[in-house]
Amino acid sequence: MSKPIDVTIVGGGMITADQLLPSIYQLQRTGMVGRIEVCALDSSPLRVLKASEEFRQAFPEQEFIAHPSEAEDPQQRFPTLYKTVVAAMPKRQAVVVAVPDELHYDVIMEALRNEQHVLSVKPLVHRYTQAVEIEKLALAKGLFIGIEYHKRFDRRSLIARKHYESGDFGEFVMGEAKMIEPYFYRSSNFQKWFTWDKTDPFVYVGCHYVDLVQFITGLKPVRVSVSGVKGKFPNGNVGYLWANGRVIYENGAILSVTDGLGYPDEGAGSNEQCLMMFCEGAGKTGLIAHDDQFRGVEHSYLKGIGCAGSVFNYVSPDFFRLVPWEGPGYKPIGYGYDSVEAILGTIHRIENEVADLPAADSLTRRQAIIREVDARAIIATPANSNTNELVTEAARLSILNDGHMVNIAYGDSPHVELAK
Ligand SMILES: NC(=O)c1ccc[n+]([C@@H]2O[C@H](COP(=O)([O-])OP(=O)(O)OC[C@H]3O[C@@H](n4cnc5c(N)ncnc54)[C@H](O)[C@@H]3O)[C@@H](O)[C@H]2O)c1
Repeated sequence: MSKPIDVTIVGGGMITADQLLPSIYQLQRTGMVGRIEVCALDSSPLRVLKASEEFRQAFPEQEFIAHPSEAEDPQQRFPTLYKTVVAAMPKRQAVVVAVPDELHYDVIMEALRNEQHVLSVKPLVHRYTQAVEIEKLALAKGLFIGIEYHKRFDRRSLIARKHYESGDFGEFVMGEAKMIEPYFYRSSNFQKWFTWDKTDPFVYVGCHYVDLVQFITGLKPVRVSVSGVKGKFPNGNVGYLWANGRVIYENGAILSVTDGLGYPDEGAGSNEQCLMMFCEGAGKTGLIAHDDQFRGVEHSYLKGIGCAGSVFNYVSPDFFRLVPWEGPGYKPIGYGYDSVEAILGTIHRIENEVADLPAADSLTRRQAIIREVDARAIIATPANSNTNELVTEAARLSILNDGHMVNIAYGDSPHVELAK
């Protein structure tokens, strides 16, 4: 009998509601996950999760423990409560980090200090040195860190990687990616933290395609330039609402990435996303083209139950859907689920493999499995994806300098610098 792992999700916002919690509920059904706790800054998102009709229908027999309690005054803030909750967990379970980007580092370090494995939503952190610090501490303690770049688990990405590795496309030379999130994001919780000084659409969603191109090709990015267009959120905060970035790779290949918070709410969307990569072969060229928006399914509803209240929708059956199955309620399907399952499955496998080992052997075995997963590079880890942090640093430096080119210097102490 395998032993389930307990999970504490820190953060109760959009990504928890749309992907993480339903995936983890399903893993509780399969026996991989035991107790589920969710900790937020205040009770308001927890009340929403608790009252969700969708969850009641999909997971009629399941619940999570809320911190603070959903009965707590929603005006009351608990910025450090997650520390108490994580400290109270049995050792070597899983902490899922789903707070705004700038809090990832603190929550991950707290989890590691308390001997917990980690699933972190992307991006792991915004600074390369922090990624390396996390990688070293986690490996020393034999704790696994998985970064939830779910596009890696889209079947089309896995197929592209297999063919690229086999040389079936040739060598990547020129590409284009787009991810334009819906306009209504501007009036969500985003407006509180998506300010120009903290982040931008390239760092927020462009990172998915930057990660994916490296996942498919294994090429290292060496130069980055990002330009942005600022605008006001409904609460008056100013943020970059649009961004365009150019990433140049070690072989000279160029990827252009366009991102924004502005796909029309009335559109069939629910967002715009795509990837096109041209490759050079011997005497001919190769091509990878993914339409990640329109995946061949159209729905027109009687009521405005689509994205942002829309009626006619392009429906992606691939990312995350709750569908009928043989069991109670509905089950999640798609690469959003597969990705969470792969990361928590790795933690579960590690702990079950070492369950009967003496402490020293357990540590050695855990470290060996972590190195194996790093080397396989299917799941993003701090060791195999820290170029993402370098691209993020370079992008921030570039966008704050009007799109000036930024070089990524590798070597003994990788860093970024404005090009001369
Ligand atoms: N495609 C993706 O991979 C994807 C999509 C969406 C979001 N994300 C990532 O998920 C993270 C969260 O995004 P979101 O859209 O859910 O944000 P959100 O604003 O909807 O939710 C943030 C949550 O963090 C909680 N929080 C803030 N401070 C806290 C604290 N001190 N202690 C405990 N909880 C705290 C808030 O209560 C809120 O529930 C971000 O890092 C984002 O980049 C990834």
